Amino acid sequence: MHTVTIEAPAKINLTLDVIGKRSDGYHELETVMHQVNLYDRIILEARPAGIELATNSSQIPLDQENLVYKAALVILKKYQPGAGVKIYIEKNIPVGAGLAGGSTDAAAVLAGINYLYDCRLSRQQLLEMAAAIGSDVAFCLSGQYYQPRPGVLLGQGVTAVARGRGELLESLPARFIPYILIVKPDFELSTAQVYSELDLESVEQFPDTKSFLQVWNKGDIINISVYMANVLESVSIRKKPEIGIIKSRLMETGALNALMSGSGPSVFAIFSDEEAACRAYRVFKKDYREVYLTSSYSRSEAVASKRNPINYGD
Ligand code: C5P
Repeated sequence: MHTVTIEAPAKINLTLDVIGKRSDGYHELETVMHQVNLYDRIILEARPAGIELATNSSQIPLDQENLVYKAALVILKKYQPGAGVKIYIEKNIPVGAGLAGGSTDAAAVLAGINYLYDCRLSRQQLLEMAAAIGSDVAFCLSGQYYQPRPGVLLGQGVTAVARGRGELLESLPARFIPYILIVKPDFELSTAQVYSELDLESVEQFPDTKSFLQVWNKGDIINISVYMANVLESVSIRKKPEIGIIKSRLMETGALNALMSGSGPSVFAIFSDEEAACRAYRVFKKDYREVYLTSSYSRSEAVASKRNPINYGD
């Protein structure tokens, strides 16, 4: 097989708590991440040498700055020295949005090169490489799972509590959230800057992660919205008040709850019924270019393809 196509889904943070600052400059996290049905498509083509990037987007770099490039370099250098790859990124996930668009592409490239060159790396080896590339990459990689037919990799749609820098994962039972509306305002936020401006003393609402997990484990999708909270929200809203306005407007349209994802600026809302979700979509579409009515990421093909798990070598 000389090419492989991989779906790389975005994530939202259903909760995000910062426990403290670490000596390495990162923050100790406890966050529930959930993959949604908004995905980039990555196509890899085996090449005798070099790493070449192409995309349909004008917003992402095509050099070493791109996490995808870093991921390809790390895995090829270590496990397939001398070989190259051409990477096409079909960008559908908004960039600089708090939805892990760059991280999920990097994770897809790790899983894809492992498959393309039959490296047979264990999931643990891939997860370690992922964590070294970026804090969200390990979570994204943990969703890369199924090979429904030769040359195609699909995820299984994961939800996990991420701790540490974000790389220590505890997977949670699969739950399907049917109506998720994501609104991405027309600006980007720097994750590093948002974290650097976080003052834990002044945070008003910390998530109750324990209660969230109890409700999640019971499968009570309506009530998870009660426990959604993100400590980075106040920092990002201070920098960009429009995030707070989007959140209030989403609540006015009948959302069960609305929350900023990651360090922002995307805000997502959960709805209990299709009609309210579609109405809200139409309202926001008048004012924003990047509005997505989606759901949890889940692939029915994944069930059939359990017979063909990716050969991870473990
Ligand atoms: O790991 P990643 O490159 O995605 O992180 C981007 C930036 O976000 C880091 O350089 C750091 O400033 C901040 N960060 C943090 N604590 C984390 C994750 C990210 O301070 N757990």
